Amino acid sequence: LASLEVDVSNIEPGTTVTVKWRGKPVFIRRRTEEDIELANGVDISSLRDPQPDSERVKDPEWLVVVGVCTHLGCIPLPNAGDYGGWFCPCHGSHYDISGRIRKGPAPYNLEVPTYTFLSENKLLVG
Ligand code: FES
Repeated sequence: LASLEVDVSNIEPGTTVTVKWRGKPVFIRRRTEEDIELANGVDISSLRDPQPDSERVKDPEWLVVVGVCTHLGCIPLPNAGDYGGWFCPCHGSHYDISGRIRKGPAPYNLEVPTYTFLSENKLLVG
């Protein structure tokens, strides 16, 4: 229950896989070069919850975030919204490709859970 091992070898670049960890969805996004550029090409001071992408990832290719909107807890949709990341349909929060809140009512970025890479293809969440 505490930890979850995920084989990420079949996740294609540009796609997001959702796994369940401690009863919550966790999004694992294998980011493309364009995704990474987009995530880093943001003026941090313009963000509601200012955080550079480098503080949110261990490896720029992989974004791992808890898939729970920080507004009222709905599950945002991947590859949607105005910022290349997620869109929460409940009240219209837009998250970018680093899971940071960019528009809408959510107060914080999507939470980054504790995780480690056990090997190139094995991710341990928790
Ligand atoms: Fe996501 Fe309100 S719960 S915008």
